[in-house]
Amino acid sequence: MSSLIKKAVFPVAGMGSRFLPATKANPKEMLPIVDKPLIQYAVEEAVEAGCTELVFITGRHKRSIEDHFDKAYELENELAIRNKEKLLSCVQNVVPSNVSCIYIRQSEALGLGHAVLCAKPAIGNEPFAVILADDLIDAPKGALRQMIEVYEQTGVSVLGVEEVEKSQTGSYGIVATGELDGRQRIENIVEKPHPDVAPSNLAVVGRYILTPRIFEFLSTIRRGAGGEIQLTDAIARLLQYETVIAYPFDGKRYDCGSKIGYLQATVDLGLKHPETGDALREYLRSLAL
Ligand code: UTP
Repeated sequence: MSSLIKKAVFPVAGMGSRFLPATKANPKEMLPIVDKPLIQYAVEEAVEAGCTELVFITGRHKRSIEDHFDKAYELENELAIRNKEKLLSCVQNVVPSNVSCIYIRQSEALGLGHAVLCAKPAIGNEPFAVILADDLIDAPKGALRQMIEVYEQTGVSVLGVEEVEKSQTGSYGIVATGELDGRQRIENIVEKPHPDVAPSNLAVVGRYILTPRIFEFLSTIRRGAGGEIQLTDAIARLLQYETVIAYPFDGKRYDCGSKIGYLQATVDLGLKHPETGDALREYLRSLAL
């Protein structure tokens, strides 16, 4: 599938403090849901949407992510000797051969905006996607693919959004929108507003398609909410020059950066998994909560 968006950025350099101690020596994006790490779900979504250059912004634990997407000679050899064909193909097909992976180190976790700015040398002057792997989206048609279709129709930046409880606005970038040609044009965006001052309950969740002009603003903005360089603040500047669309994607999102979201994803995807579905359903029934 050919797509206008070839490059996808995966910021994976956060602290993951809500998952300590699991994230002490391993990035949270390597936490598994059933049998695949979160980052693999995100990569599969990007590849399925037509992206062929994957840019990982890594932090102090970069090894395990690099190893995961690299060839594993010893393991593959061992599985081949033992005739474990199915497992061998699982390990070999983590990324297709036409897809390349680039790793860039974010030396300090200065915020999501700073992480995206670190991708600039690999992106250049092209529109690109950003996927936050801890927002796992289960959808019949991948959320990024849906958003790339919107980009292909409009040629402007597109942010994945969903409604959240008003009490939760302080955990998200929140947008106010107006109608433009049957779509939702973003008029205002604020990072983590208190519910009393939030412009709406429409939250940006971890999917973005951005025009390269975003780098202009990312390189000049100051630290914002939480003392971090916020992608939201750069998007607020971009809005003054370009149209940005909010797109309520079709699919169920799990906030796997939080313990409860992670557990919900594990249960739902475990129920859908051919190897675990029946047994897990039976187990949940036996609990009769
Ligand atoms: P979060 O806001 O979830 O922060 O980052 P975090 O540090 O990963 O997790 P907690 O809050 O301490 O538990 C959103 C995304 O941005 C990335 C994270 O890896 C995550 O995918 N990120 C955040 C970076 O890559 N660099 C940063 O400096 C900050």
